[in-house]
Amino acid sequence: MSLHIKGGTVVTAEQAFRAEVYCADGRIAAVGENLDVPAGAEVVDAGGQYVMPGGIDPHTHMQLPFMGTVASEDFFTGTAAGLAGGTTMIIDFVIPNPQQPLMEAYKQWREWAEKACADYSFHVAVTWWDESVHRDMETLVKKHGVNSFKHFMAYKGAIMADDEILVNSFQRARELGAICTVHAENGELVFTLQQELIDKGINGPEGHPLSRPPQVEGEAANRAIRIAEVLDVPLYVVHNSCRQSLEAITRARSEGQRVFGEVLAGHLLVDDSVYRNTDFEFAAAHVMSPPFRAKEHQRALWRGLQSGNLHTTATDHCCFCAPQKAAGKDDFRLIPNGTGGVEDRMAVLWHHGVGTGRLTPSEFVRVTSTAAAQIFNIYPRKGSVSIGADADLVVWDPEGSRTISAKTHHQNIDFNIFEGMTVKGIPSHTVSAGKLVWKDGELNVEKGAGNYVDRPPFAPYYGAMQEARRRKEPTGVKRK
Ligand code: URP
Ligand code: ZN
Ligand code: ZN
Repeated sequence: MSLHIKGGTVVTAEQAFRAEVYCADGRIAAVGENLDVPAGAEVVDAGGQYVMPGGIDPHTHMQLPFMGTVASEDFFTGTAAGLAGGTTMIIDFVIPNPQQPLMEAYKQWREWAEKACADYSFHVAVTWWDESVHRDMETLVKKHGVNSFKHFMAYKGAIMADDEILVNSFQRARELGAICTVHAENGELVFTLQQELIDKGINGPEGHPLSRPPQVEGEAANRAIRIAEVLDVPLYVVHNSCRQSLEAITRARSEGQRVFGEVLAGHLLVDDSVYRNTDFEFAAAHVMSPPFRAKEHQRALWRGLQSGNLHTTATDHCCFCAPQKAAGKDDFRLIPNGTGGVEDRMAVLWHHGVGTGRLTPSEFVRVTSTAAAQIFNIYPRKGSVSIGADADLVVWDPEGSRTISAKTHHQNIDFNIFEGMTVKGIPSHTVSAGKLVWKDGELNVEKGAGNYVDRPPFAPYYGAMQEARRRKEPTGVKRK
């Protein structure tokens, strides 16, 4: 099966140029002008359009068991919705329950993900600590292509990682050449503030943002960054929602620390007024952590993206429908945290980023795809338009438009946080592993067509040397 994309302008994170792209056997086989390709290829007319690397959403939670329920979007429906929006790969999360062996959880998530119709990979969360976790982290890195470990600094009494866990896990990740990632919110503070609000009789969704003010996020981001600095491990801070966490990242980067920041499309575009809506269903549908913030934070986040202190855009796609959200009708602490967006991220970023002049098309490619591929070590296999790369592409129609709505989206959720937003700039075609899976509004996906993507560690020799020093064994690694 081969595909010949003609007439378009290829846009990468570095440059834009007129070129045809020829894909064969799931890979990009040629990029250039006037390609002489074998007969029989399916032809895509990309006239007047951009040909870009497919989006990578580095933060999703398909069918996550969470807060007493299970996210409504599974790996098939979620990756299909992503493809409809130009996203050709997700990085989801294995989240073991405390005391659950990491390998057991990893195998469970791998099984759940078999039905995915686009490529996927997994960060693995460290939610507890003992010698078996220490051992399983090595197995995951060396045998299962995991190079990132996640730490939830919030969700006390459930999956929260305290400082002891952070220190142990960060140290181990460094030995293994893996990157650490954190959900930065001080879980102790959230717990205390929640209780205070309930005691005052504030039990509706408006209590959710009040229990998680920006300082709670800024403190945790700074703490994780400083722990990572002392232990000399790279750090990726997920879903930065406020000026305070961005400042912590910016400060550390200006000191030369290897810290990366992610921002969600939702945090860039939705503000905290949603929690003051008196319709419980509407307000609860927006309950996620960290919460949507006041507009001043959105301005700061856009500047963070533009200045290069925030690197990736994600969605934290974690869908719960109204009946699930209703669990917290009388107590905001019980509203399952999460919102959707995997289908809309690319279009809302193009419209509000490129369409407003905040981002160039190349910067758009960087923040929606290339930077994630580079940070998580799968570049140039992903995130590039180059010979030998996976043929995961999006043909982007800058003149096309669509009005986002839960009535028409492909996501398995009854709500859309971007409801009613008309965006200019949409994917006309999405190519996954060389196959046309989205064409002019029609999805043509196959359950199970997605593949698990191995992500190699960053510094295996360095990691091996650290490990050998710990065990006082020779490494066999010779310096020139
Ligand atoms: O509210 C959210 N973000 N739900 C998903 C879990 C997480 O914290 O990322
Ligand atoms: Zn989180
Ligand atoms: Zn998340």
